[in-house]
Amino acid sequence: MAKAGSNLNLDGQGNPVWLLLELTYKCPLKCAFCSNPTDLDTHEDELTTAEWKKVMHDARNMGAMQIGFSGGEPTLRKDLEELVADANDLGYYTNLITSGIGLTRKRLENLKKAGLRHIQLGFQSSDPQTAHWLAGVDCYEKKINMAREIKALGFPMVLNVPISSVNIHQVPEVIHLAADIGVEYLELANVQYYNWALVNRDQLMPTREALKAAEAQVAEARKQLGDRMTIFFVIPDYYEGRPKACMNGWGSIHLTIAPDGVVLPCSQARSLPGLNFPGVRDHNLRWIWHESESFNLYRGDSWMKEPCRSCSEKEQDFGGCRCQAMLLTGDAANADPACSKSLHHHIVQEAVTRALATKQDHNKLIARDVGWVPTEV
Ligand code: FES
Repeated sequence: MAKAGSNLNLDGQGNPVWLLLELTYKCPLKCAFCSNPTDLDTHEDELTTAEWKKVMHDARNMGAMQIGFSGGEPTLRKDLEELVADANDLGYYTNLITSGIGLTRKRLENLKKAGLRHIQLGFQSSDPQTAHWLAGVDCYEKKINMAREIKALGFPMVLNVPISSVNIHQVPEVIHLAADIGVEYLELANVQYYNWALVNRDQLMPTREALKAAEAQVAEARKQLGDRMTIFFVIPDYYEGRPKACMNGWGSIHLTIAPDGVVLPCSQARSLPGLNFPGVRDHNLRWIWHESESFNLYRGDSWMKEPCRSCSEKEQDFGGCRCQAMLLTGDAANADPACSKSLHHHIVQEAVTRALATKQDHNKLIARDVGWVPTEV
């Protein structure tokens, strides 16, 4: 049985540690790299406040310690403060993952009172025009204002900036802006190609040269900033040669609850054809985690094919990402094609070649279909 380090147990007897609540798929932004499903219209009927509270309670009883309130845009839920307060009372470490749209100084103060511990703010670019291209909406000023308010209220904050061909040349300016705002952590996360980002892959793929240049700029900034800011630079899978240990292994430590209560081992899994994920309206969360077929499918290593099965690295990366294997090869039990040992690695290489041969033009980005009409941004 594969083990992820000494404390993790991938046989289904371990506990979920990290709970992600996708409170809603609604969002006023239309980001071309959005990781929400591309068929939003088919997932309505959000859980009620009482149902979310039961989920948090049940997961806490199973050992969950950290909770993320995410979406879509979680601030669109009017009960966000109430849910945060409940999570805080239950003893969770609470994190809000937001675009900043929907936040106000008053709401931030109320979230602080409710016990919110940490905020991750999504950010597109150091310049308003590029931010508009990527988000499909004019949102730059609002985000900057909210970033400054978050810091003024003393929240620890991660500024999360998805990086693609559209903004990779702005890495030095983004770092400068983040330092000026006073964020502790800057995550320059190269876009991974799922859902809307997969739709826009040809337009978003950076060149290897651009990645190398950005990496060098990050290294230089780390030297200059020292302890003032920690910068993460996440390379896209397609250029890595080795797959990421996605979610620390399927059904290992992570639980995502979709807006309608469907329980997932990761946010992307809903898009996997042929898998029927149970929901909290019909099943007990403990049963879903320990017993359900979908959560047990890719635990351990008995599901693995070659080359993963005999690979010396399988206990570090678990064969990579099941969702990426499914999306690119049609079989989630294949090795993640991001791995250079995968028999399907050529799919990734061909995708890179095709993307870089495409004339990249921000006008060709396909905006996320919001699946709902926002009243304001
Ligand atoms: Fe689902 Fe990697 S995103 S397993």
